[in-house]
Amino acid sequence: MTKQKVLNIGIDLGTSRSVIACDNGVRTFIPSYVGFPKDTVSRKFFGKDILFGDEALKNKPALELHRPFDKGVLKFSDDPEKTVKDYKFTVNCAKQLLTHLVSLATNGEPGEYSLRGVVGTPALASRKNKQTMMDICEGVLDYVLVASEPFCVAYGLNLLGSALIIDIGAGTVDMCRMHGTVPAEDDQITLTKGGDHIDGIFFDLVKSKYPEANFTTNMLKKFKEENATITGKGEELFITLPINGKPTELNVTEEIKAACRTIVPDLVEGIGKLISTYDPEFQDDLKQNVILAGGGSQMIGLRKEIEDHMRKHLGYGRVSRVEEPVYAGANGALLLCRDMPEEYWTELRPAATATQKVAAMAAVKG
Ligand SMILES: Nc1ncnc2c1ncn2[C@@H]1O[C@H](COP(=O)(O)OP(=O)(O)OP(=O)(O)O)[C@@H](O)[C@H]1O
Ligand SMILES: [Mg+2]
Repeated sequence: MTKQKVLNIGIDLGTSRSVIACDNGVRTFIPSYVGFPKDTVSRKFFGKDILFGDEALKNKPALELHRPFDKGVLKFSDDPEKTVKDYKFTVNCAKQLLTHLVSLATNGEPGEYSLRGVVGTPALASRKNKQTMMDICEGVLDYVLVASEPFCVAYGLNLLGSALIIDIGAGTVDMCRMHGTVPAEDDQITLTKGGDHIDGIFFDLVKSKYPEANFTTNMLKKFKEENATITGKGEELFITLPINGKPTELNVTEEIKAACRTIVPDLVEGIGKLISTYDPEFQDDLKQNVILAGGGSQMIGLRKEIEDHMRKHLGYGRVSRVEEPVYAGANGALLLCRDMPEEYWTELRPAATATQKVAAMAAVKG
């Protein structure tokens, strides 16, 4: 490595949140949104050409807002040859997001460091998606290594023996069976019903119960993050939404529970599959050690629901939740950064200067 100071960065570019954890103690996350001012007036108002995360969300009406990831992978990455312009634009949105996170980590001086990043991807990201991650990191990092997200979580918790990691994100639920080696393809399952799916169902249920109410998916998502539960008992849950402009309290107790429950059947089926196809001598060890991570793991009652299901169908199950659902993936990616020998890293083209990056972005935007 040519530059003197090496900065290791654990990176979790998520559908909903992008998170970094770095060697120098910087840990932070932002919602995965990139916004461009809609016109000359808004550009003058913001005094800049690009906004990120919460700042972008708060100024939505004046921005062209983009969320580059969907279902855990970059949009348009399934068939980049067919959608060249959209793909390139979305790669650049993600690149800008990563550049922003890296500048937070390096205090705006990324050129001082040799930047090494381990980037988490959904468990079963295809070869193409791994290449997409490389495309995103090109020009931002100097060295990169792509690893599966639940593997990063397991590595960060030092759960390398028998354990079943379930990372419940916005776009995907990633499941991975650990058994002391790097997990193979048949150790992993990726489901595409995650938090975004819950938000969509919740939206439809509230719309059909209160057709006169005005709301966006984002408003419901915020409510979900404060109230998500799947337990049968508990208090009634009310959301305040405008009806003809007047804030009105609406009972959504059944709707939020029903929406949250929709991810459970596939999830428990996945657990059954990963356990029943494992070496029978060690199945009990896996059942003992089911670990929930990701934002969705915070749903009240989920842990018990999975344990009840496992008891009924698999005889036994012990489920726990990671302490830091937001940072678990990035923390593990950072540990991998520190531990992986040089031969595992891919060297990228040297990081571009900030001016080159802005010029590239402008060219793609047209
Ligand atoms: N308390 C909560 N209860 C239920 N869901 C929550 C809670 N907090 C956050 N979420 C949901 O968790 C999801 C975000 O989790 P996370 O940050 O792990 O996802 P991500 O990494 O962005 O997505 P992916 O891994 O699929 O790319 C969102 O759908 C969010 O609404
Ligand atoms: Mg994630």
